[in-house]
Amino acid sequence: MTEIQCNSLSRSPGAADMSHRILLLLVLSVLLAVPSRGVYLEPDQSLRIPKGWTRTARLAGSDPVILTFALKQQNVDKLQELVGRVSDPESSHYGQFLSLDELRTLVQPSDDTLRIVRTWLEKHGVQECDSVLTRDFLECRTQASVAESLLPGAQFHRYEKGNVSVVRSSSVYSLIPEVASQIDFVGGLHRFPPERKVLRRSENRQSDVDAGFHLGVTPSILRQRYNLSASDVGTHPNNSQACAQFLEQYFHPGDLSEFMQLFGGSFQHRSEVDQVIGEQGGGRAGLEASLDVEYIMSMGANISTWVFSNPGRHESQEPFLEWMILLSNMSSVPWVHTISYGDDEDSLSVAFMQRINAEFMKAAARGLTVLFASGDEGAGCRAVGKGKDVFRPSFPASSPYVTTVGGTSFKNPFQVVYEVTDYISGGGFSNVFPMPDYQVSAVSKYLKSTVKMPPDSYYNRSGRAYPDVAALSDNYWVVTDRVPIPWVSGTSASTPVFGGILSLINDQRIKRGLSPLGFLNPALYRLQAADALYDVTEGCHLSCIDDLVLGQGFCAAPGWDPVTGWGTPNYPGLLKSLLQ
Ligand SMILES: *[C@@H]1O[C@H](CO)[C@@H](O)[C@H](O)[C@H]1NC(C)=O
Ligand SMILES: *[C@@H]1O[C@H](CO)[C@@H](O)[C@H](O)[C@H]1NC(C)=O
Ligand SMILES: *[C@@H]1O[C@H](CO)[C@@H](O)[C@H](O)[C@H]1NC(C)=O
Ligand SMILES: *[C@@H]1O[C@H](CO)[C@@H](O)[C@H](O)[C@H]1NC(C)=O
Ligand SMILES: *[C@@H]1O[C@H](CO)[C@@H](O)[C@H](O)[C@H]1NC(C)=O
Ligand SMILES: *[C@@H]1O[C@H](CO)[C@@H](O)[C@H](O)[C@H]1NC(C)=O
Repeated sequence: MTEIQCNSLSRSPGAADMSHRILLLLVLSVLLAVPSRGVYLEPDQSLRIPKGWTRTARLAGSDPVILTFALKQQNVDKLQELVGRVSDPESSHYGQFLSLDELRTLVQPSDDTLRIVRTWLEKHGVQECDSVLTRDFLECRTQASVAESLLPGAQFHRYEKGNVSVVRSSSVYSLIPEVASQIDFVGGLHRFPPERKVLRRSENRQSDVDAGFHLGVTPSILRQRYNLSASDVGTHPNNSQACAQFLEQYFHPGDLSEFMQLFGGSFQHRSEVDQVIGEQGGGRAGLEASLDVEYIMSMGANISTWVFSNPGRHESQEPFLEWMILLSNMSSVPWVHTISYGDDEDSLSVAFMQRINAEFMKAAARGLTVLFASGDEGAGCRAVGKGKDVFRPSFPASSPYVTTVGGTSFKNPFQVVYEVTDYISGGGFSNVFPMPDYQVSAVSKYLKSTVKMPPDSYYNRSGRAYPDVAALSDNYWVVTDRVPIPWVSGTSASTPVFGGILSLINDQRIKRGLSPLGFLNPALYRLQAADALYDVTEGCHLSCIDDLVLGQGFCAAPGWDPVTGWGTPNYPGLLKSLLQ
């Protein structure tokens, strides 16, 4: 910018030009004296330090940090249209997914973007950068002092929680305008590793159990309820599924085989994970990690299973973002992914959520099915003023490009009977993403026909509504560190269950020469068959418990609802519908 102005001044001026020239110089000197205004990419990013973390020391200038630049992609509008076509069973392009190479051709940043960002980094002496196959992320190692001069406003500190420590910035960062327009957001400054706790609930258990009772949810109970026979297992060698974990949490292969022995029932299955991507430490196994692996593998039985384990290799990396980046750097990944991670929408910047949403479109374009847990706090609750509350949507559950899974419990907790709402089941309406076309008619019907609704001021009727589906989320058995643990609950349980069932359907599709399911929602919201899913129509989830007006969030209803979505799987019916 300044160079161009200097060139124009170097023309030899006529006398008449002089006064203009002096005026221009005056204006320029004023402009240049004020350093050019930085642009804040994520001014709305919450700087709240999550519970349990304490700030310790400011980093020394020479301490290493890793910055992740989400470079501006090209053709995001075309990507969105493409995803609409390849995911819509009524389109002639249904199932015509892209390879990662083809995806790169579509979305990779322009040469200008790559040049401007590289030049800027080199000027600051940043040289150690890694890219991904789609070229739209750049991960750079540098020093805290360099990072702070690249990103005016940023100030790196160390934060600790128990024996885990991370490096984050205590204030928002800016970028020079020229570079800011080439970048969506910079990772490694703000978002803390997510809190993820599965629930252990043993309250309200009735003791008057009669014949036919069961003592908790196991693979055989799930298979019975969802109508899976012993022969419903994967048989195609090219089928695969995965779960992703973002904490310092591991599963133990020994737990998995013990679980399968204790609870696996009579069907054929694998009890070994095929691939672990990332670190799989040797410490104690985590309950959450064990839950995911044990249940995706007992529903998607005999299907090759991968575990993505991303605790964040370096203190300044964001584990969830690392997983997203990894997907863009691996040309071959499993077809189904289940993830039990979520953050409050209001704690994340819109720039971050929009870009992650584009990453989900990339996954959809490749034919990946990505499922997220809907969360364990019902509609959620956020105080927005004295005595005034609103619901609190969760992201990525609220992304229109993922399938979100809610939770149910048996009407009688000890019998394989029909399912009702699990009151913890996350659900509601996004404040960021507008309602996608595929769900407009289903959601409008719910909004129109439901009598008992929370006041309008609590939620956003025009937002993406979730969950899309549900499965049992209460009273599971899990083996961890060789000990069977009862009463494990939460949508962390229902998500791998639904994922495993979709993997079985992929198996049947691949066997018939059909494409895998890919992004499920457009097909899901078109399902006509009444026997594809068990409609859940009873019960409400929680929200602002102390709120005098409320006490509860949304309630289940016939058809789609923002508590259990369309309901829970009836495998033979769902398979039949999704093979058409
Ligand atoms: C992507 O993969 C390549 C090849 O394996 C590797 O060199 C590079 O470091 C990876 N990128 C990131 C950001 O990890
Ligand atoms: C961190 O602490 C937890 C319990 O407080 C322990 O189980 C774990 O092994 C520790 N991890 C490391 C890396 O020291
Ligand atoms: C599924 O099982 C239920 C009972 O568990 C039964 O009523 C129903 O007919 C079965 N549906 C199909 C399609 O097999
Ligand atoms: C399990 O899957 C493999 C292919 O991955 C297949 O060869 C084998 O027959 C399957 N086992 C059963 C019991 O169907
Ligand atoms: C599995 O995939 C590979 C690579 O795409 C292909 O060559 C092979 O034929 C597939 N196997 C089957 C049984 O379809
Ligand atoms: C409601 O959602 C829309 C997107 O669908 C958004 O533009 C709007 O800002 C949201 N309203 C509130 C109050 O958050």
